[in-house]
Amino acid sequence: MADENYWLEYSNLQKVKHDLIKNYLQGWFPKMSLGPTGSSRLLYVDTHAGRGRHMSGKLGSPLVALESLLTHTSRDKMLEGTEVRYYFIERNTDNFNALQGELKPVRLPSKVHASPLTGDFEQLFDKLLDDIDKNGSRLAPSFIFIDPFGFKLPGRILKRLLDFPKVELFINVIWRELDMAIRGAKKGTAKGMDKTLDMIFLGDSWREIEGDDADARAAQCAAIYPKITGARWGTHIRMLDKNRIRYFLIHLSNHDAGRDLMKNCIWNSCPDGGYYASKADNPDQQILIEPEPNLEPLREWIFEKLADRPRRWLSLLDDLREELWLQKHFNEQIRELRKLKRLDGDRASYSGPFAMKNNPLLRLTSRFQGRGLPPG
Ligand SMILES: C[S@@+](CC[C@H](N)C(=O)[O-])C[C@H]1O[C@@H](n2cnc3c(N)ncnc32)[C@H](O)[C@@H]1O
Repeated sequence: MADENYWLEYSNLQKVKHDLIKNYLQGWFPKMSLGPTGSSRLLYVDTHAGRGRHMSGKLGSPLVALESLLTHTSRDKMLEGTEVRYYFIERNTDNFNALQGELKPVRLPSKVHASPLTGDFEQLFDKLLDDIDKNGSRLAPSFIFIDPFGFKLPGRILKRLLDFPKVELFINVIWRELDMAIRGAKKGTAKGMDKTLDMIFLGDSWREIEGDDADARAAQCAAIYPKITGARWGTHIRMLDKNRIRYFLIHLSNHDAGRDLMKNCIWNSCPDGGYYASKADNPDQQILIEPEPNLEPLREWIFEKLADRPRRWLSLLDDLREELWLQKHFNEQIRELRKLKRLDGDRASYSGPFAMKNNPLLRLTSRFQGRGLPPG
């Protein structure tokens, strides 16, 4: 029934999930294929591919991912030096047959290949990774989407994948059930669950997830993923049903550019900056007026960073990567604070106009140095 219901509906959460894949791939493909560092081969893997299309006709993730490349304005340029291989894994025979049916009419350029694979993703990946180890080969740069119905995802596979330098994972963490399992295991009411959780978290770090607030616990859980997989960056968005987290999507990447791109994609999907999507929202509704994010905390952050010493514009932007705001928000605030005469660029530190590209040394104006944030 879980499966049947999934394909019957197309909620805002499913839409946001697909928008994130589409928008991320539209930035990822050119970044990975064009220019002197472009790769000759890229992989997109959907480990839980599904049927390819919802009953309502909306596209499932395999077709969303294909469309992101096929309709890309730079498609032909990207495919000059790069081939793109798509692998779609699906265990359920009925879903697999439906997926094959959806893929059949899709016409692909000669450098694009799409292979549906039937089977259990865990077995297929263990074998693939063992073969790669045996042959001493490498996995091509890959975007791997992991979208199960349940929460029992082995940490061992995630870690092995992220050991490759240019592999990125986008994982659907089924939080409500995972949270229940963690609480049950701690109370001793879920027999054997501690072993399962050790398998998911590659050890017992799940025991550190605690507190009364499920939102805070989800944030603790999301923070564990980069630690256990060795990923440099973990970026997550909460998917809410009736104001509670149903699941969260986490992007794991070893690259600053991957972190920046996913932050941008998440802001596009939820422009108020809350890093969440709600099931209750209508997926077909056009947003006429975009909500304005509250950037007051960003101003406070800038004041804190500059309180003791001046800093270069670009070095503050490096620090900003840790935070959820975007570069464009930061640049707007810097210009605004300068207009208000609360900070300025050290004139001797740059030439040309006051701009990011000239990387001025930023300092608070004398009346604000060593003080907290002024009101307004
Ligand atoms: C949430 S749905 C996938 C939705 C799809 N990614 C999309 O966005 O259109 C999960 C799918 O994973 C399949 N599945 C479940 N366990 C699996 C496994 N161990 N290996 C491969 N596929 C599996 C299910 O049959 C189901 O079709």
